[in-house]
Amino acid sequence: MPPRLIAVSNRIPTGSHSSGGLVVALRDALSASGGLWIGAHPDPGTGLEEMEEVSGGGCRCLAFRLSEEEISDYYLGYANSVLWPLCHRRVDLVEMPSTYEERYRAVNARVAKLIAQVARPDDLIWVHDYHFFPLASELRALGLANRIGFFLHIPFPSLGDLSVLSQPEDFADWLADYNLLGLQTRGDVARCLEMYRADPRAEFMPDGTVKMQGRITSVRSFPIGIDVDHFRELAGVGGRNPFGREAPDSFVIGVDRLDYSKGIPNRFRAFGRYLKTRPEGTRPCLVQIAPPTRERVQAYQDITSELEEIAGRLNGAFAELDWTPIRYIHRSIDRSVLARLHRMARACAVTSLADGMNLVAKEFVAAQDPEDPGVLILSRFAGAAEDMTQALLVNPYDIEEMAAAIHQALEMPLEERRARHAACMEVVKRTDAARWAAQFLAALRTCMPTLSPQVARLSSSHRRHRPAPDEKPDRVDERLE
Ligand code: ADP
Ligand code: F6P
Repeated sequence: MPPRLIAVSNRIPTGSHSSGGLVVALRDALSASGGLWIGAHPDPGTGLEEMEEVSGGGCRCLAFRLSEEEISDYYLGYANSVLWPLCHRRVDLVEMPSTYEERYRAVNARVAKLIAQVARPDDLIWVHDYHFFPLASELRALGLANRIGFFLHIPFPSLGDLSVLSQPEDFADWLADYNLLGLQTRGDVARCLEMYRADPRAEFMPDGTVKMQGRITSVRSFPIGIDVDHFRELAGVGGRNPFGREAPDSFVIGVDRLDYSKGIPNRFRAFGRYLKTRPEGTRPCLVQIAPPTRERVQAYQDITSELEEIAGRLNGAFAELDWTPIRYIHRSIDRSVLARLHRMARACAVTSLADGMNLVAKEFVAAQDPEDPGVLILSRFAGAAEDMTQALLVNPYDIEEMAAAIHQALEMPLEERRARHAACMEVVKRTDAARWAAQFLAALRTCMPTLSPQVARLSSSHRRHRPAPDEKPDRVDERLE
């Protein structure tokens, strides 16, 4: 039996969020080790509750409740109005009320205490995403010497952008408490190592690991993937045509949470540009599924209005009585319908301005009929572009280039479509979700172990302790004697 796995992520598989690749990958790893998945309950509470069992995802899940203030300041605030824009190269959107950071740190400290109540000394702990950067530091401060891994699903921020944080040096320090730091791409690893190179506290070991104040961290890329077989199966299952009698002649599909990082307004503009020059007699559509997300954050309200305005303007300019060129659905849709739409589409447009990986790109490729596949148009700024080099790679800031790519995709000869699809599909299979999880966990199991709990606790509280203004500075050192 492998060591027990404890997975931690803000979202846990409940109800409608229980069928993605991450869920499948972790569910298998969790059930193989008799492990548990810890995360936030979908319903708010007082923030004082103990954890409770929730059902979903086919594995044992324990949920803590977030209070309304925590949802505002930790989730919508620090996680999604500071760290998300920071990691997606939008520091102009960062909002910094001090309560965001305070509550973020406090939630991480509280979650660490809850984990410490259930963790056994030889459990592997796998923390997911930017909601929990400081979690390992909090766990170390409580004396846990377990192997702790972290996987960042979104891009690693650039060194320059990190200066937007109130204590930029804490960021490198938080990550140094993990034994293994998993990132999506080689580009992310390069940015992370650049951060450590610029930090006088860090040194590089001959085996490539980073040593910071006695802690050793291995930094590696593990490109995430999807549950390929399941998605292919969904796409291949017949059934009612999702369009009914309104099926378009040919269409390009876009599927994204309505997030400013996804570059949807430029995708619409590029489609508008393509419509102007399209071959005579053709009536293509752009089918955009973009469910709302993080709606209480101003930047998300702004992007929603911007998109509605562009869609309305383009349809006003190009639609005919029996043809609507942009079909925009601002709702979530059933995954099996989504998979069938992917299979029917002639092309998929992924135009992210920044994206950790972009699983939609992999889902589109997996859904295709290899004998008559559609074409993936893929932003150079999506992590998926690092390996899927046979997609039609585009610069999402260049409207002309994207319009030309739409034209090329819709006119592409069958042989070229097959060849490009086969190359992309090879990547999709090689990086599928189960392998991704297995590779990360194999690497975590062989990481250099951490210091003993007692030493870890002392060194961690030493690093974390910031003297109050009236406190004598040497008190910190006294604690270590
Ligand atoms: P992100 O994690 O930033 O949202 P990804 O592309 O990596 O972006 O993953 C998005 C996931 O959410 C994919 O599995 C995709 O199929 C799913 N998804 C996105 N939009 C919808 C939708 N409208 N309905 C159902 N699933 C969706
Ligand atoms: O891929 C990044 C990510 O933040 C995931 O962690 C998350 O599940 C997804 O995007 C959706 O975001 P949210 O959980 O804020 O709805």
